[in-house]
Amino acid sequence: MPNPSGTAIRLLITAGPTREYIDPVRFISNPSTGAIGYALATAAATRGHRVVLVSGPTHLSPPAGVRFVAVESAVQMQRQVNRFFPWAQAVIAAAAVGDYRPRRPARTKIKKENTRLRLDLMRNPDILEGLGQRKGAKILIGFALESANMRANARAKLEKKNLDLIVANRCSRRQSPFGSGRTSAVIIGRHAETYCAAVSKMRLAGIILDRMERLCYSLPASVPIRAAGARGTKKQSRQYTADKALKRPHS
Ligand code: C5P
Repeated sequence: MPNPSGTAIRLLITAGPTREYIDPVRFISNPSTGAIGYALATAAATRGHRVVLVSGPTHLSPPAGVRFVAVESAVQMQRQVNRFFPWAQAVIAAAAVGDYRPRRPARTKIKKENTRLRLDLMRNPDILEGLGQRKGAKILIGFALESANMRANARAKLEKKNLDLIVANRCSRRQSPFGSGRTSAVIIGRHAETYCAAVSKMRLAGIILDRMERLCYSLPASVPIRAAGARGTKKQSRQYTADKALKRPHS
């Protein structure tokens, strides 16, 4: 589908988990599959945008028409993101970046000689927060996976990281967005919220890109780009915009 203005957006996307090595063969990571980041990259390239995808290790193939940069650790991801940031007009940070890494990874494989093993961890850089501090006119979109107070916590991250939009997902033992086909999310902007209930990741990616295009092209929220939520039954895809933005220039 062509993009509405015909102008390609230079879009930097992060996806997948990071790996923080303890020794040469073991690492700390998380169950992120990269699905939403890859769906975003695929859909954005199909719309004619120019896409760089910086990805942690996943089982997915790099999408066609996308410049693909493979990384493992948060520090490597930060280096690549910083490399492409000056080029980008918009950034979508969909990666599940590890918050901590071993302070001194062992050079050789750790032997199971002791009954206990203590890991000394240090904070990883917050890649997106770093971009927020030198945002300029760029559009920044983040994700927030929350197990409690989802909307309040997501809003706090939107402010703290100086974002334009944040996509909030709920997670619990029974409800994990990792890898599942359908997902529910709230896309929170400064003046508008879009609720997406039980949508496919490809569908969610399309809705996020609609919001991103609106911001990049400075379109008022009242101008429809394309019929969001047009496909799928009401049960499959309940999506609407709480549009406080109608009084404002854009969301
Ligand atoms: O982990 P957290 O909930 O703070 O993640 C919110 C957003 O910040 C996500 O978009 C994630 O990709 C990004 N992030 C990051 N670098 C980190 C942690 C999170 O870019 N070290």
